Amino acid sequence: MLTKTNPAILYFGTPVVLVSSLNTDGSANLAPMSSAWWLGWRCMLGFGARSATPQNILRTGECVLNLPSAAMAPAVDRLALTTASDPVPESKQKRGYRHEEHKFARANLTPVPSEVVAPPRALECPIQLEARLAGSHQIGEDNVAIRGKLIALEVEIVRVHADSSLLVSGAPDRIDPDQWRPLIMSFQQFYGLTPRLQKSTLATIPESAYKMQPVPLVEETVKCGLVNADQ
Ligand SMILES: Cc1cc2nc3c(=O)[nH]c(=O)nc-3n(C[C@H](O)[C@H](O)[C@H](O)COP(=O)(O)O)c2cc1C
Repeated sequence: MLTKTNPAILYFGTPVVLVSSLNTDGSANLAPMSSAWWLGWRCMLGFGARSATPQNILRTGECVLNLPSAAMAPAVDRLALTTASDPVPESKQKRGYRHEEHKFARANLTPVPSEVVAPPRALECPIQLEARLAGSHQIGEDNVAIRGKLIALEVEIVRVHADSSLLVSGAPDRIDPDQWRPLIMSFQQFYGLTPRLQKSTLATIPESAYKMQPVPLVEETVKCGLVNADQ
């Protein structure tokens, strides 16, 4: 039987991303978030607009999306309720947030230089996506209760690093979904994925059909255009 319900949040389950960015003083920030989804080599990131991380990305145009595995839940949890903002905004103070200057150390993760962007990667994350800002969109502009509070950032992935154990053997440009065990956040709780359930009809389309075609180089970044987005 279905019943009407009014949950305060509708976070039905998305992968956790540890976003590294550079603070105004040049130090590295590392923030957990999970309002993220990908289309081609573009990613949409949803943030509380006043958090340090979206402000850093808007100012510098760069970030790294570090994807923790399910096994890394304890590291991610050590970053919960921390912010690079100092002073801590009142709305975050009320929820128990505190200022943390050294996010990588707090999480016990190792910052390593990126290849294309300035923010460092998190070494222990099995997937690291270097990214550049491509656009931004205010969320809820039509609603006075939300206006100015939420922002969606579109970033372009400019370099993908993946642990070699996650790659399909004999196909170095494919991630094996049977090997990749993402950390999932659902309604503020951590989960992993179950093993594959059944054969997928969509997977009869070869991944190469979705290949992004490189277009002329901008600096050392490969700008991409989607050839086949039909899913
Ligand atoms: C697992 C997890 C997922 C989160 N998802 C989001 C999110 O999708 N968007 C967001 O704005 N904040 C999210 N947060 C809260 C941010 O981490 C929080 O706003 C933090 O203060 C951001 O760091 P910063 O203030 O240094 O930028 C999440 C926190 C955790 C622990």
